[in-house]
Formats: sequence, structure tokens, C-alpha cells
Amino acid sequence: MTTTSPIRVERVQQSRLEDVDFSNLPFGKIFSDHMYVSDYRDGEWTDDRIIPFGHFTMHPASMVLHYGQSIFEGMKASVDQDGTPMLMQPREHAQRLNASARRMMMAEFPEDRFVEAVSRLVKLDQGWIPPQEGSALYLRPYMYATDEFIGVRPSETYRFCIFTAPVGPYYAKPVRLVVEEKYVRAVPGGTGEAKSGGNYGGSLLAVHEANQRGFDQVLWMGVENKQQIQEVGTMNVFFVIDGEVVTPITDGAILKGITRKMFIQILKDKGIPVSERLVTIDEIVAASDAGNLQEMFGAGTAAVVSHVAELQYRDRLITLPPVEDRKIGPMLKRHIDGLRVGSVEDTHGWLVRV
Ligand SMILES: Cc1ncc(COP(=O)(O)O)c(C=O)c1O
Repeated sequence: MTTTSPIRVERVQQSRLEDVDFSNLPFGKIFSDHMYVSDYRDGEWTDDRIIPFGHFTMHPASMVLHYGQSIFEGMKASVDQDGTPMLMQPREHAQRLNASARRMMMAEFPEDRFVEAVSRLVKLDQGWIPPQEGSALYLRPYMYATDEFIGVRPSETYRFCIFTAPVGPYYAKPVRLVVEEKYVRAVPGGTGEAKSGGNYGGSLLAVHEANQRGFDQVLWMGVENKQQIQEVGTMNVFFVIDGEVVTPITDGAILKGITRKMFIQILKDKGIPVSERLVTIDEIVAASDAGNLQEMFGAGTAAVVSHVAELQYRDRLITLPPVEDRKIGPMLKRHIDGLRVGSVEDTHGWLVRV
């Protein structure tokens, strides 16, 4: 497979940038001027192009609509203090997209070409990157099956696309969670480790029922060991128990979050004890009873940190300490937000300037 292909660029006639109110950005509703598209046919990615953001037409038998070969990534670009656009961990995202592609029997997109594609797109639309700390240009690379056929088999053609959306700072208020015991998100051997669309469609009913009961999100649990904590909503989960940070070990059912990986590294760099291991709900209840449960938060690209205020487990309500008394979650969020605007030193080369 070729790893490079010239990118054809067709610019918009008139940018929509002037119409955007950067001080009031709803998440995921405003899209920048251009998008990147490449099509896979005859075993090759072809016709790489950056074109004006717009609609696709679709064949009614397009395989993605029937059997769900659909994967995506979520990543962010920001600007340095001197205005240079920067991408956070583009290679990690390329590798995870390809891991998802392998699990879903889809075509892999060459890593170098992925990095070039996001770089060129972000450079072209750099005026769309909101400069304030906590704001970013959210990038959505995704791929879907395009064969016009209704037999169940892997598609032989795919479309890979990247569009971008400016997003404001995410002032997430601390969330109320419920331990989900009726529905499961993923099992080892399933597709939970892939960022495939079906995982998200399958989670909606659980979240809806939790919302109806007054909770914001669910805490997903394992199947083989029903005590085993997996993830919170669409984020990886962290606890601080008696000064030690713990997060569930990835076992094939948990998405390998890039924020999760960065948090573990930052904690190690700072000499804060951190471990990846099996975490059970009984352990969390016991830690709370003993007064040792200091923090619980979700970790992900969108919000970076989402603090948990309360966790309902059967008839037990666990109340976490107030966010003002927490140290680890707020420190990690400051660190990532600071990296994104260049005020914290990037010692691991996570940022790529474009
Ligand atoms: C199910 C799930 N878990 C965890 C995460 C966090 O991953 P990341 O830190 O790479 O955004 C995400 C978001 O991508 C997700 O969808």
C-alpha cells in the first residue's frame, strides 16, 4: 500500500468564520470551512483531497448503514502562545484508528498520511482554532464502509474523512453516577476496545434510563466479574484512594484512552503513586466507608477531567468530597490544558506543531 498521496486542495469561495461567535460555542454543532476525504478502492487509498465542508451522497445499500463498519477518533488541535497550531498526539490517534479498523475488518489508513492529513487540514483552517485555554479545535477523523451490497461480509471500499469543529472550554459540573447492572457496554473479546459506532449506539438506552432516574451518567461494569469497574460513560475512570491513584487495567473491553495514558505518565513523572489494576465496586464502597475515597473522575479528550460528585450503587449513595478539596483531578486538567496552550513544558513530545 502506498503511504503518501498528493493532497488536492479545493478552498471555499467564502469562509464562514466571520459568522462564528467564539465566546459562545455549542459543542459539536459548528463546523469549520474544510474537510479531508480519501476513498479506498482496489486495495488503495486514493483521491486524497481537502474540500469545502459539505454533504455526502449515499447509496441506500451502502454497507455501513446495514452492518455498522464505522469507526472514529476524537482529538484536538490548539494554538501555542505564539499562535502556532499544535496537534495533541496525532500518531496515537492514527494507531488507535487502525487498531479499531483491524477489529472491524476495515482498511487501515497509513499513519504518516493520517498525520499529514490532520496537519494540512488544521493549518488551512487554523483561524478556526479558538485561542482561549480550555478551548480547542475538535477533530473528528472517521471511516465507514461504502460497498453497495447487502450481503454480510467486510466491505471492499471505504471512505476516510476528517472534519473539525471549534469547541469552547468545557465547564463540566460534577456528575451524579449510577452503577449500571442491567446493561453492559462491552465484554473482553467484544468491540469495546475499538472506537466503533455501534458501541455508542448500544450505550444510549442505559444512559437514557439513568437520566430518567436523575443521574447524569452510568458506571459500566464487567460481565465475567460483575464487581469489576470498566469506564464512566464515554470516559476512562480514575479513583484516588488514600493518596494512590488507581484506574482499571484495560482488558479488551475498555477503550485505551489517550488521556488515560497521559495521566498515568504525568502522575509517574510527579512521583504520585498510580496503578492500573482490577478495581471493584466493593473496594470503592469500602474505601468510602473508611473515609479513604478522595476523588473519582472521568478522563477523556472532550472534557479532560469530569469530576464525580455522587455514585449510587444499589441502595448505597457514595458522596465524594467537594471538588475544591481535590488535588489530583484538577492538577491533571490544568496540566493538559496548559500543554495545549504551551504554558506547560511538553517533555514527552506529545504535541506536534503544524
Ligand atoms: C468509550 C470511551 N472511553 C474512553 C474515552 C477517552 O479516550 P481519549 O482519552 O482517547 O479521548 C473515550 C473517548 O474517546 C471513549 O469513547
